[in-house]
Amino acid sequence: MEIIRRNKALMAEIDRIAEVAGYLWTKGWAERNGGNISVNVTHLMDDESKSLPALAPTRPLNEEVPFLGGHFFYVTGTGKRMRYVAQAPFDNGSIIRIAPDGKSFDIIAEQPVGPTMEIHSHLMMHNYLRSIGRETTVVLHTHPTDLIGFSHCKPFLNSEHLTRTLWSMIPEARIVVPKGIGIVPYAIPGTMELAYATIEQLAKHDMLLWEKHGVLAVGDDIIDCFDAIDTMSKSAQIYFNARWAGYEPVGMTDEELEALVPAFNLPRM
Ligand code: 13P
Ligand code: ZN
Repeated sequence: MEIIRRNKALMAEIDRIAEVAGYLWTKGWAERNGGNISVNVTHLMDDESKSLPALAPTRPLNEEVPFLGGHFFYVTGTGKRMRYVAQAPFDNGSIIRIAPDGKSFDIIAEQPVGPTMEIHSHLMMHNYLRSIGRETTVVLHTHPTDLIGFSHCKPFLNSEHLTRTLWSMIPEARIVVPKGIGIVPYAIPGTMELAYATIEQLAKHDMLLWEKHGVLAVGDDIIDCFDAIDTMSKSAQIYFNARWAGYEPVGMTDEELEALVPAFNLPRM
């Protein structure tokens, strides 16, 4: 569609989304259609693209998102594979427009690709973050093998314990994910139950672990969201490699972890 393709700023953002979708696949975090992405592109839409007609019947939302009224999102499609999002983002995702009252949305470009089954979690996360004054634009959900592995071990289903363990493997973990990782108890994928439990954890954390399912990162930049998950995944690998080699990793001391806070001007969890 000409109108969208002419918009260079928007297309540059779509290219970055496609770039990250490719990383998710090559990392082995995106089996079949695993994972989904939503990015608020409202600030990149010109008047012409904002008024594009709906390509499919208006879809009501189960929970209204008043802080997103009139906003636009690129959202990956349900059942679509990240390796193909990387190659053809508009065959495997679409741009949606939230109604002014935040009660429904329309798919407006480029094709009527239905959004991810996790659309409720994504939109409620964006809505919650805006409601507390944050202009966060990205929600990235993916299935990193190592981090999901931790959620099968009871003691790690504790945000403080899991965060402390991951932070203590390499200094970058605390530097890149200073608010740690929140835990969302298991719920059926795509459900409102999962969406409600997810936003509960967002007050404290920018990264969440969906028990026995996957990880979410929120932020202002999709590359940063990818990097945050990648850094925590690296920590997880160091931990598991040590355990496989037969030893418990020593980990950074409390003093070493504490010294990072003033050195990098980090917020506390
Ligand atoms: P979708 O294909 O609907 O995005 O679902 C994939 C997924 O990871 C569900 O959590
Ligand atoms: Zn998932």
